[in-house]
Amino acid sequence: MKIIEVKVPGTAAGVYAIQIGSGLLGSIVSEVGRAFPRYSQFLITDSALVRAGHVEKLVGSNSMAGRYVVEPGGEASKNMATVTAILEAMEACRLGRDTVVLALGGGVVGDMAGFAASVFKRGVPVVQIPTTTISQADSAIGGKTGVDSSVSKNAFGTFWYPAGVYVDVAALATLDERQYRSGLVESVKHTLIADAEYFEYLERNLDKVLARDEAVLMEVAGRNCRVKAKVVEKDPTEKNLRRVLNYGHTVGHAVESASGFELLHGECVAIGIVAAGKIEEAMGLVKDDRLGRIENMLKRLGQPTQMPANIDKVRVFELLKSDKKAIGQVARFVLLERIGRVHTSKGEYAVEVGEAVVSGVIGGL
Ligand SMILES: NC(=O)c1ccc[n+]([C@@H]2O[C@H](COP(=O)([O-])OP(=O)(O)OC[C@H]3O[C@@H](n4cnc5c(N)ncnc54)[C@H](O)[C@@H]3O)[C@@H](O)[C@H]2O)c1
Ligand SMILES: [Zn+2]
Repeated sequence: MKIIEVKVPGTAAGVYAIQIGSGLLGSIVSEVGRAFPRYSQFLITDSALVRAGHVEKLVGSNSMAGRYVVEPGGEASKNMATVTAILEAMEACRLGRDTVVLALGGGVVGDMAGFAASVFKRGVPVVQIPTTTISQADSAIGGKTGVDSSVSKNAFGTFWYPAGVYVDVAALATLDERQYRSGLVESVKHTLIADAEYFEYLERNLDKVLARDEAVLMEVAGRNCRVKAKVVEKDPTEKNLRRVLNYGHTVGHAVESASGFELLHGECVAIGIVAAGKIEEAMGLVKDDRLGRIENMLKRLGQPTQMPANIDKVRVFELLKSDKKAIGQVARFVLLERIGRVHTSKGEYAVEVGEAVVSGVIGGL
């Protein structure tokens, strides 16, 4: 087992630990009990985790104060109505401030459980137990919580850092292949923005990652957590540096919206990473064939590297102007200087890119 500490100034503890291992689920409840003696534990999960047997492994014969099972799991449930139902279920259990929330599931469960924990009795601790490739690499670590509105994704939320995170790579065994593969795009993103050696490690070990080899998955989890933790520690509330985590996401989010959420998040980010790479080439930031290597890795993961024919490119282009990083309708992009290092301009990590360049790249994708 590996332990990575994340420093978060401004929070009560100032630091939390990420534990990475295989077969951890069975010992979490008693460990949390030792860290929070006399606290009630409330579990938030979704029905897929019940079906896969992970809830049983986590809870075992321990007595919990209560649980809320999101049904169905997935993005369609990530809204205020579900959070209200969770909070009222907690209230019905007569829980007080001496409650710790356990979030077992993917990013949807983690984001909602973190949000509910942050507002229940003005804030109770949450322990994140991520079970998908996206949540283990990304959403369980950065302290962002929230839900979608009927208008936009992640419309409402809070920053609420976990009291602890348990990454059990054995939980990935039951994840559906398409979810599994697309979530790995966030790992590719981490290699690109921060760690060339990690990129090479992934290149060498991708077949083992795809075979869900636990030793390799633990190594990947550790590297992901270190990359994300380092960025989050330096910029806990996303003032500037944290934007690097949005590499590939500017076009990615626009494609996700334009596809009517038919494509999975990671699949859209894969297209976004290729788009960013082509923008880098158009702007003269590239001296080698790094995009070929990146595209090759995405293809080995079974991810799209071109715009699917049914996506309206004009709509994608329009959506880019309303991206959250845009200023005065001019899209701004996180770009690479090289694999493992983000390009900066005047200290900014998200840089302006002219309309002609963007429309040329989108048109050619
Ligand atoms: N907070 C952040 O910083 C952050 C970062 C990235 C993504 N996110 C959010 O995360 C969400 C996407 O996360 P996700 O891909 O984990 O989605 P998810 O939680 O919807 O999980 C994907 C599907 O897999 C099922 N599932 C989860 N774990 C399983 C397992 N071990 N075995 C079998 N089935 C399992 C779920 O029921 C769901 O149907 C989005 O809402 C996104 O906005 C948040
Ligand atoms: Zn993402």
